Amino acid sequence: MKKLNGLLMLALLLAPAAASAAEAHMGRAHNMADRRISLGLSPEMRQHQLANMRAHLAAVQKITGLVAEKKYDKAAIIARTQLGLTEEMKQMCDKFENEEFKALGLAFHSSGDELGEALKAKNPRKVFRALNKTLGYCVQCHEKFQQ
Ligand code: HEC
Repeated sequence: MKKLNGLLMLALLLAPAAASAAEAHMGRAHNMADRRISLGLSPEMRQHQLANMRAHLAAVQKITGLVAEKKYDKAAIIARTQLGLTEEMKQMCDKFENEEFKALGLAFHSSGDELGEALKAKNPRKVFRALNKTLGYCVQCHEKFQQ
């Protein structure tokens, strides 16, 4: 019984500390509120867009691996077909109502084609410059928009 009382006392002593820690945590979360512009996508569009995004990331990984092996031509094909402004990607970008998002998406895919050109030139410096530009669009768009 004595031991139980001791435990109870301890719990009572710690409760305020736990509560204020929770408040501090919530305060931080509040300060970090997501201020990115929401695109207001339908559930179907959300899935479709995220799947595209994961494919973009996979394409970047494939390209860097191929460049490391000096397989520039293969990398160029991936850049053009998976990151470039294909008919499919043009149509996808056109579905978004937010004009700025659409413009960013189109600029991003054009940079994928430029990356393809740099890869065809087989010049590592040009390739990294182009890849940097493409990745810049990923960063820029993610900073500004959410689904
Ligand atoms: C024109 C805008 C735009 C561009 C460019 C863009 N993304 Fe995204 N991406 C988004 C949005 C919006 C989301 C959803 C974010 C959210 O709702 O929190 C997203 C989500 C993602 C996700 C999460 C996928 C998931 O299943 O959760 C990955 C990975 C991703 N993007 C990778 C990339 C990569 C890599 C690039 C560049 C090669 C890129 N994106 C370029 C807009 C963009």
